[in-house]
Amino acid sequence: MSAPRKKVTAPAIRAAKGSRRRIAALTAADFITARLLDEAGVDVILVGDSLGTTLLGYESTVFVRMADMVHHTAAVARAKPVALVVVDLPFGAYQESPAQAVRSATRLVRAGAEAVKLEGGAAYADRLRAIVDAGIPAMAHLGLLPQSVLREGGYKAQGKTPTDAARLEADLRAVEEAGAFAVVLEYVASTTAQRLTKAAGIPTIGIGSGPDCDGQVLVTSDLLGLQAWLAPRAARRYAELGRTMKDAFACYAADVRAGKFPGLKETIA
Ligand code: KIV
Repeated sequence: MSAPRKKVTAPAIRAAKGSRRRIAALTAADFITARLLDEAGVDVILVGDSLGTTLLGYESTVFVRMADMVHHTAAVARAKPVALVVVDLPFGAYQESPAQAVRSATRLVRAGAEAVKLEGGAAYADRLRAIVDAGIPAMAHLGLLPQSVLREGGYKAQGKTPTDAARLEADLRAVEEAGAFAVVLEYVASTTAQRLTKAAGIPTIGIGSGPDCDGQVLVTSDLLGLQAWLAPRAARRYAELGRTMKDAFACYAADVRAGKFPGLKETIA
C-alpha cells in the first residue's frame, strides 16, 4: 500500500523549483472533477476563470463574476483535495486597487481557495504584493492574458520578438519580487519560456509554452475532449468524452422511446 499523499501547499509548489519533479496542474469547477483529479494525483487544482467559457457558456472570461468563482470554488473545496486549490481572481475583481484585490482574494479564501491567481505583470505587481502581505499565496499569470482580450483584439501568442521577450522578463522579475510563489506562462514562444524558466526563482507552469517549463497546466475539458468542436493548440486530448457522452444520451433517449428503459432491474417491485 502506498503512503498517503502529503497536503500540497503553496510553499511546497514554490520549493519544486529546485527539484526535478514537474508540476502537474489541471482545472476543475465542480466536486466530482476535483475528486477525480485528486485521486489521480494532480498537484494543483486550478479553479480557472475558463469555467466561464467552458461550463457557463460565456463569450469570454471577462463576463465571469466573483459570485461564479465563489460558487465553483466552494464545490471544489468540498472535495477536500490533497492538491493545492488555486483560484482565479476574475476580471474586475482586482483591477481597481490593491485594496480591492485583497478584498476579493479574501472572499475566495473564505470559499475554499488556498491560493489565488491573477493576470498581469509589472502593472499588477502592487495587487500581488498586497495579497501576499495579507497572508494569501498568489500565483502570477503572464503571456497571453485572456482577460485582456478586448484590449488585444484577440488571443495572441506572446514573447515572439526580442522586445516582447524582454518585456516578459521584466514582468517576471516584478511578480517574483512582489512575492508570487509560481507563475503561469500562457502561449509564450517556447524559446522565451525556456529563457524565463531559467531566469525565474519560482516555478513556471506552462500552457502552450513548450516542454521546458517547471510544470504544465491544461483546461480539463480540453484534455477530455468535452467540447468536440474545440481543438486548442496547447491541449492534448486524452479522451473523447464529448462523443462518449452524446452517444450515451442518444442511447438513453432511444431506449426510453422504444420502451426498453426502464427494465425489470431498474424498476421498484
Ligand atoms: O482559467 C484558466 O483555466 C487558466 C489556465 C488556462 C491557466 O487560467
